Amino acid sequence: MSNNNPRVYLVGAGPGDPDLLTLKAHRLMNQADVIVYDRLVSQAIIDLIPHGTQRIYVGKAPGKHHMGQDEINQLLVKLANTSRKIVRLKGGDPYIFGRGSEEAQFLVQHGIDFEYVPGITAASACSAYAGIPLTHRGIARSVRFITGHCRADQPLELNWNSLADKQTTLVFYMGIASLPQLRTELIKAGLDASTPAAAVENGTTSVQRRCISTLDKIGEAIEAMSIQSPALIIIGDVVSFADELNWFTPQSETSNEIVPQAVKN
Ligand SMILES: C[S@@+](CC[C@H](N)C(=O)[O-])C[C@H]1O[C@@H](n2cnc3c(N)ncnc32)[C@H](O)[C@@H]1O
Repeated sequence: MSNNNPRVYLVGAGPGDPDLLTLKAHRLMNQADVIVYDRLVSQAIIDLIPHGTQRIYVGKAPGKHHMGQDEINQLLVKLANTSRKIVRLKGGDPYIFGRGSEEAQFLVQHGIDFEYVPGITAASACSAYAGIPLTHRGIARSVRFITGHCRADQPLELNWNSLADKQTTLVFYMGIASLPQLRTELIKAGLDASTPAAAVENGTTSVQRRCISTLDKIGEAIEAMSIQSPALIIIGDVVSFADELNWFTPQSETSNEIVPQAVKN
């Protein structure tokens, strides 16, 4: 497939379950000549790429260098100038903690047209697949998406007082490493230590695991289950729905769900 003006399709792949791809994302994947994709695009979605399509992996695994953001930006411009149809496929929604807007800016600055296809972001999908509604009348009137990622050896600088609101659901992306700090700061800012808290690992996939606990104990609970990235942390009273609204059973022999003894009431 070819086009006259160089154009890159910046496409959100959602959190993992291929059924959560938008029709537009799926159509573009089928039409692309080249797909440049990240680590967070699930294998089940990669498996949907037609055989003849060129695939370029540019994922960054924690602690391992693969391709830096500058190199990825340059690669997209170079590929676009070959007049082929380029899909840049990123996990979740590329505009939510995904550096999608930086890639879009770079394309614009280099005279390349782009089209944006939003994806379902992890906060929305992983919470739902873990039985947790992000808002609920009378319980949570707002929701905050927060990055828990901070530069190496730097403390996480957030407005803790504004986050410590009983009726706000907090969703931390990339929050596992900074969990001890965020727990301490939120409790110090006035959030009740017994506020329900959850972690969802590999949300929406066949190996999803969830860990349900409380703010003061979530760190130990996560450790007991060896929860690893990618994982989302959800804090707020809405987490108390997790058992009642738990509809999703991951279809994998290796997946499981454990409530560690330490956090059982
Ligand atoms: C760099 S951010 C990218 C977020 C992505 N753009 C989105 O909209 O979901 C990566 C973080 O998103 C969260 N995440 C993404 N996919 C996830 C999944 N399937 N399960 C749990 N957390 C996920 C994790 O916190 C992970 O560390």
